[in-house]
Amino acid sequence: MRPLSFHIETFGCQMNDRDSEIMTQLLAEFCRPAPGLLEADIVMINTCSIRQKAEQKAFSLLGTLKQLKKRRPEMIIGVAGCVAQQEGAKLLARLPYVDLVLGTQNIYKLPELIAEIKSSRRRQTAVSQSADFEIPPYLPDLRRGPAYKRFVTIMQGCNNFCTYCVVPYTRGREVSRKMTDILAEIRHLTSHGVKEITLLGQNVNSYGHDLSRQVDFSTLLRETAAVEGLKRLRFTTSNPKDLNDDLIQCFAELDILCPHFHLPVQSGSNNVLKRMNRHYTIEHYRDRVAALRAARPDIALTTDIIIGFPGETEEDFQATMDLVREIRYHGAYSFKYSDRPQARSAAFGDKVSEVVKSERLSILQEEINRIAAERNKEYVGQVQEVMVEGKSRHSPGQWSGRAAANHIVNFTGNKSLRPGDLVDIMITEACLHSLRGQYD
Ligand code: 5AD
Ligand code: SF4
Repeated sequence: MRPLSFHIETFGCQMNDRDSEIMTQLLAEFCRPAPGLLEADIVMINTCSIRQKAEQKAFSLLGTLKQLKKRRPEMIIGVAGCVAQQEGAKLLARLPYVDLVLGTQNIYKLPELIAEIKSSRRRQTAVSQSADFEIPPYLPDLRRGPAYKRFVTIMQGCNNFCTYCVVPYTRGREVSRKMTDILAEIRHLTSHGVKEITLLGQNVNSYGHDLSRQVDFSTLLRETAAVEGLKRLRFTTSNPKDLNDDLIQCFAELDILCPHFHLPVQSGSNNVLKRMNRHYTIEHYRDRVAALRAARPDIALTTDIIIGFPGETEEDFQATMDLVREIRYHGAYSFKYSDRPQARSAAFGDKVSEVVKSERLSILQEEINRIAAERNKEYVGQVQEVMVEGKSRHSPGQWSGRAAANHIVNFTGNKSLRPGDLVDIMITEACLHSLRGQYD
């Protein structure tokens, strides 16, 4: 019998990317990758529900699959990720052509669930969440994906309950992986040539608080930085309220910790931060930024901002604009607020109209881009160490890679290079979202 083929479509954050890697590895044990979604016997959609727009993207793809299944009724369609967790069995009722709903703590059950669907033709839902959940040790398969840089999950879930956020519901409470498991995974990766690791978690600053042998995130960073063969270390994401001096000290101490910090501020107004339940003030945020810059003067700061949170006044919005001008971020992601099921702010009154949200967002994004372009110009004339990713997709004949502060650098040069090589590049030009340079 011909082996089944599979295809996974992934939306959302790096956590979902990593989960899709794991699902790929699990499916590849008994299936082969399909050339594309249209040809696959098993299609998994790994969904995101952080904002309404993200959720809509998943549902629109599912609509396409409905048509496909009419022509190929034997195909298996699975929904994984945050929409699956949020909706559970309701999804099966709403989408009669879906065979499997796979929650965020259940991805390891994928092979047995597929086998069950095949043998019984009964649709399956696996969305259980438990406070005792442990992320199983799982060594990544290095035959798939990039050979030089990888993500390593250190924790899942979040206990912060920011009022706008669905994550504590879709990803559950914070669960940290044992440090020994994390380090074993990292050593496995570096012993196979991986040079850059990004430690992943929704709230990495709280790493270890739930473990019986208490360790903290700074300890994990120091231990990881000491792993032989590792050249670059990154992490994401942090909450400013838990950004302590010891973590900031790591930026002064650890050369391989890249000078980039993604520090979501969400709003420049203390009134809004309070209603978001963020547990810090703008004064605290400023103080943390100053400490980071003192520890590592070349650090590039990026952030997330939500526009139009319920009750956001023109004055609140101006406070966000003032903060953006003051911090001068190297880059920022900004989003229009959207109600999420279960999130507390969905029930808040005083909603900001779509028109006002759109207006404020475009004013903000213009300022963010103006400042990012100025920031990029500061690199012109400097030599930056770049990790080669491959041939540039947009500029034929050029190479592409990433600087330590995470900028994409496109560069010319005749030498033969391989992904993962570290090269010194003279930066010659700044664009809005990338830098250009010369290698000789
Ligand atoms: N509406 C808009 N943006 C949101 N984010 C999280 N929840 C919402 C929401 N309900 C944004 C935050 C977060 C980023 C990942 O997504 O800025 O940091
Ligand atoms: Fe959501 Fe807040 Fe947790 Fe981030 S810290 S995942 S925004 S609840």
